[in-house]
Amino acid sequence: MRIKPAILILSLSLTLTACSLDEWTNQSEPSEEPPAEEEQDGEGNGTSEEEEDENNEEESEEQHEDANPEAYADELEEKVDEDGLTVIEEPDIKEVVVNKSRKLPEGYEPEDLVTPDVRFPFEEDLPKKYMQPQAAEALENLFAAADEEGMELYATSGYRSYDTQKQIYDNNVAERGQEEADKFSARPGTSEHQTGLAMDVTTPEMEYKLEQSFIDTEEGEWLAEHAHEYGFVIRYLEGTSDITGYEYEPWHLRYVGEDLSTDIHETGGTLEEFFGFHAE
Ligand code: DAL
Ligand code: ZN
Repeated sequence: MRIKPAILILSLSLTLTACSLDEWTNQSEPSEEPPAEEEQDGEGNGTSEEEEDENNEEESEEQHEDANPEAYADELEEKVDEDGLTVIEEPDIKEVVVNKSRKLPEGYEPEDLVTPDVRFPFEEDLPKKYMQPQAAEALENLFAAADEEGMELYATSGYRSYDTQKQIYDNNVAERGQEEADKFSARPGTSEHQTGLAMDVTTPEMEYKLEQSFIDTEEGEWLAEHAHEYGFVIRYLEGTSDITGYEYEPWHLRYVGEDLSTDIHETGGTLEEFFGFHAE
């Protein structure tokens, strides 16, 4: 809401240039966007670039000197694919916005993945235990704090490769139909799980299931209140499906870093609103 599409693009690319987004940025990492059809046409792609151009013309040169992200909009060159999806240019930053209109580059894999030292309801060393190192450390801190409060959190699903997400999405389409599946399951290339920055969590009271009633457990409530203190946002908030593209997921944690997570938590908005990128 407060930042326009331009800024996101900027922020992402600027991390690698001289510009600083220090107010809410500390490190650098991943990215993405999704596949789609007619619903994405004309939105978040060519249109937003035109809007950015206008904004930049208005606000322009002097801001350039202040390293204001908006001033760099013209320098961004994110491409739009044949389905109308923006291909994320800088997938390796922790602020990356992956959604139904912004997909990860083809073949994208995070550079480094580790297993956070937290509870899982299974023993095997599966890729879904993995996260990017920075996110894994933050999750360990979150779990340690939750433990101190007597919470019984369990991590269930973190990193997913493109191929794994494709299998999951295809299964969901086979079981529920595409229209339903698209409400809760990301198409391959457009899932935050492919970035290694997301982790789904649950609790024994939920029988380790991922259902919206998780918010009625002590663990779900604690997460909603405290996740931001450890650099995470609850990515898909209740009542925001028109913005994020997905139904409420009180279990889906997305690491963005503490400054940004706190800012987003305090404003009560979504990652899309913060950067001005709506999913559809
Ligand atoms: N459930 C989230 C939207 C995903 O599939 O990535
Ligand atoms: Zn998830």
